[in-house]
Amino acid sequence: MLNSVKRHVRNTAKKLLPTRLQRRFPYSLFGRKIGDYLENRDKERLFGSFAPLVPRVEDMFDGPRSLKLFKETGEEFLRIYQEICGLRPSEKMLDVGCGIGRKTIPLTHYLTSEATYQGMDINRTGIEWCQKKISAKFANFRFQQVDVYNKFYNPQGTVRPVDYKFPFESEIFDFVTLVSVFTHIPPTDGVNYLSEVHRVLRRGGRCLITYFLLTEESLRALADGKSAFDFKHAIGNYRVVLREMPEFAIAYDESWLRENYPKVGLKITRLDYGSWCGRGGATSYQDLVLGVKE
Ligand SMILES: C[S@@+](CC[C@H](N)C(=O)[O-])C[C@H]1O[C@@H](n2cnc3c(N)ncnc32)[C@H](O)[C@@H]1O
Repeated sequence: MLNSVKRHVRNTAKKLLPTRLQRRFPYSLFGRKIGDYLENRDKERLFGSFAPLVPRVEDMFDGPRSLKLFKETGEEFLRIYQEICGLRPSEKMLDVGCGIGRKTIPLTHYLTSEATYQGMDINRTGIEWCQKKISAKFANFRFQQVDVYNKFYNPQGTVRPVDYKFPFESEIFDFVTLVSVFTHIPPTDGVNYLSEVHRVLRRGGRCLITYFLLTEESLRALADGKSAFDFKHAIGNYRVVLREMPEFAIAYDESWLRENYPKVGLKITRLDYGSWCGRGGATSYQDLVLGVKE
């Protein structure tokens, strides 16, 4: 929509201006200004007082590039955190792979000043945005960039995810969430991340991790071409869409969960299968797995 507005402004200006002036006219700057104006107007209409915390659509690297979907998924996860994960307003939470804050912004009005929200991501732009916009206004919301390698999100990263220790002391969080992160890291790295989640959780603490799980039903849907992602390359106990870029999208065999949660000391207390494979009546798009540290 914005691109078509910019194109229209540029073409109209070209038609109206004499040829001599056309060469000097800053079409792209002008088009961009109008685009920014329209985007900011939509932001204020949709987000109200949250608008200054919302990044430009073109900077939404961590999911759908749309103001409407940015808002909807943020609100959806606030509900999931409250209703499925039992998140209370005073709890201490860790959000691994928080991106540019789409699931964080609604929490700024739910968590009280007694609570702490710690975001962590490997993408510097997202973390710098969140520090500048969210931490500046809400001191109990902190963000940290970590230089972990991911071929899709941080190809220059220097630390291997399989070796990475989260930069936090043990047993300090009530709730840890990783939304659409295990969908971008292979199971070998996933085992280390799962045991780090367990380490930083207090006893009785909960974790919500989202997946694309390979089950009988989702495999059948994949074979029938109903899935939004075509996980066509099988690599051991997981599948990927792009063999040359596995981190683009990864699906785990459900048996991986059943084996590894108990191994690290986490109990699965709830599993809601998602709609990603064409399933009807699902709670969310990805599969939601709630675990508890015993
Ligand atoms: C699809 S985005 C999801 C962002 C956010 N959780 C959300 O749901 O809106 C995946 C995020 O995971 C981050 N990520 C990928 N690999 C990671 C890793 N090994 N450790 C921490 N974050 C990672 C990416 O940088 C990206 O921000």
